[in-house]
Amino acid sequence: MQTELAQPTKINANKALWEKGDFTRIAETMRESGEALVAQLGITKGMKVLDLGCGDGTTAIPAARLGAKVLGVDIARNLVEAGCKRALREELKNISFEEGDASDMKYVRDQGFDLVVTIFGAMFAPRPLDVAKELVRVTRPGGRIVMGNWIPGDPSLVAQILRISSMYTPPPPDGFVSPMLWGNEDEVTGRFAQAGISRDNISFMRDKFTFNYDGAPAELVDIFRQYYGPTMNAFEAAEKNGRAADLQKELEALFKSHNQSGSSRKTSITATFLRVTVTL
Ligand SMILES: C[S@@+](CC[C@H](N)C(=O)[O-])C[C@H]1O[C@@H](n2cnc3c(N)ncnc32)[C@H](O)[C@@H]1O
Repeated sequence: MQTELAQPTKINANKALWEKGDFTRIAETMRESGEALVAQLGITKGMKVLDLGCGDGTTAIPAARLGAKVLGVDIARNLVEAGCKRALREELKNISFEEGDASDMKYVRDQGFDLVVTIFGAMFAPRPLDVAKELVRVTRPGGRIVMGNWIPGDPSLVAQILRISSMYTPPPPDGFVSPMLWGNEDEVTGRFAQAGISRDNISFMRDKFTFNYDGAPAELVDIFRQYYGPTMNAFEAAEKNGRAADLQKELEALFKSHNQSGSSRKTSITATFLRVTVTL
């Protein structure tokens, strides 16, 4: 007689990475830039906005404050819950948050949004070609997609955190596509071309996001070490090799050298990203 064995549940590494720790602790340092970016997007009352990889609403909540009807989608359940709590606290009735994957949004109907925003969000989803197709599918003709993507090899903060971290972690599995390729204009153009978008409909600009923290740069490194999934993983790997102190030292030197606050007790670090606008 054949015995039926329960199939082991497959772990979604992408989801596990972002549910690890608590990204809200990093997001708290990014609120001013999130608001400033949203203010530039021409959002008007009643506009339908999708924020993909929305975290706890750094851009979704300011968009709702402007009167847009906002859906925030994120793969991490804890961040969706945190976004809901923030919206409740502000008594915003025109925003909802849902758990979902940017590379497969079956539950989101075709052409349903005037504006699709994804700031350092969809870039982290696997299968970038599927992501480009999904972004295009859910945007209405005449609508816009706005992506914020960190830039590979950029000397500013986030690219450097990821570069340093990668020197302490084992090489990624075969077939892994680096999220940072979304920061390369040719890659972005090629991905949207496969989703049917012509180069003439895509514009690029270098933009800036500032991390503000009411504490010393080394304290902000500790926040990343305790709460930011990719940095937590780098420290776990470094600890196994007895190299955690070296990683800590490198990150502290990085944060300190980028601090523009003018005080050793406060941290203000501006990082450059690629802003991609696609017009449908
Ligand atoms: C660096 S955080 C940025 C969050 C937010 N956009 C902000 O600016 O604060 C990356 C976000 O993308 C989300 N994310 C990663 N992979 C995703 C996927 N496949 N689908 C949807 N969201 C994803 C993470 O859970 C996380 O909230």
